[in-house]
Amino acid sequence: MRTVHSVLELRAAVAELRRGGDQVGFVPTMGNLHDGHYALVRLARERANRVVASVFVNPTQFGPTEDFGAYPRTLEADAIGLRQHGCDLLFAPSAQDLYPDGTQGHTQVVVPGLSDVLCGAIRPGHFAGVAMVVAKLFNLVRPDLAVFGQKDYQQLLVIRRMTRDLGFPIEIVAGPTEREPNGLAMSSRNQYLDRVQREQAAAIHATLRWMSGEVAASGARAGIETAAMRRLSEAGLSPEYAVIRRAEDLDLPVEGQREGLVALVAARLGTARLIDNVLIP
Ligand code: PAJ
Repeated sequence: MRTVHSVLELRAAVAELRRGGDQVGFVPTMGNLHDGHYALVRLARERANRVVASVFVNPTQFGPTEDFGAYPRTLEADAIGLRQHGCDLLFAPSAQDLYPDGTQGHTQVVVPGLSDVLCGAIRPGHFAGVAMVVAKLFNLVRPDLAVFGQKDYQQLLVIRRMTRDLGFPIEIVAGPTEREPNGLAMSSRNQYLDRVQREQAAAIHATLRWMSGEVAASGARAGIETAAMRRLSEAGLSPEYAVIRRAEDLDLPVEGQREGLVALVAARLGTARLIDNVLIP
C-alpha cells in the first residue's frame, strides 16, 4: 500500500491503479481507525478490485466549540491497519493540500432539508462541511463506488442525496454498524470514554433495540420516544434525541406506519457525543 499526501500524487497513483481497467472502491475516513472502518475497507475490497482510503480530519464539519483539536490523530497505526485489511492506496492530505485557498469563501455543497434535522439541527453547518469534503474527495479520487457506514445514518442519506443530485457516477454502498461486545457502536469518539462510561454507553444500543421492539408491538411513537429519553437519562447519559423516523428521508412517519422506519439516538456522556441507530425490521 502506498501513502500519498498531495493532490498531484493522488491523481497519478489513482491513474496507475486504474491501468488495466480495475474498479476503484473508496472509503473516506477521519482516521483513528477501528474495526468499523476496516469492515468498510473489506466491503470495498469485495465490491471493487482496488481500494483507496482517505484519512483527513476535516475542519469544515466541526463547529467552533467542537472537538476538532482533540480529535485523535493516529496516521501511522491507521496506515498499518489499512494495509492489513487490503487497502491499495491511502490519501492523507493536510488542510493546505485540500484547502489551498483556505476554507473561507470555499464553494459550498448543501443538501437542504436532510441536513437541517436531528444532528444537523444540533450541529449547524456540520453536514454542509461533510458534503463539501466528500464532493471534493469524490472529484479527486473519482471512484466507481464509495462505502459509508450505516452508523452515521443521517450522513449516509445526505451523501446519497448529494451523489444523486450532482450526478456523481459513483455507487454508494452502506456497511453495517460494527459494535463492541456490549452493543456500543465502535467510534473514534469512544476514546473519550473511560471503562465505566463504556458500559454506561451500552444503554444507547439497548434503548434502540427496545424502541424497535416497541414499534413492532404498539406503534405509539411519541410515548416510545419519551420513554427512550427517560431510559437514557436513567443510565446516566444526557440524551439529545431519541426518535423514530422514516428510514428513506428522516421525515416523521405517517400515522400507524410500522415499516420502513429507523430509530436514532444522540446522547452526551462525559466529553463524548455519541450517535447510533437501528433499522426497524
Ligand atoms: P469517520 O467518523 O472516520 O467515519 C468514516 C466512515 O466509517 C463513515 O462512513 C462512518 O459511518 C463509518 N463508521 C464509523 N463507525 C462505524 C462502525 N462502528 N461501523 C461501521 N462503520 C462505521 O464519517 C466520517 O469519518 C466523516 O464525516 C467523513 C465521511 C470521512 C467526511 O469527513
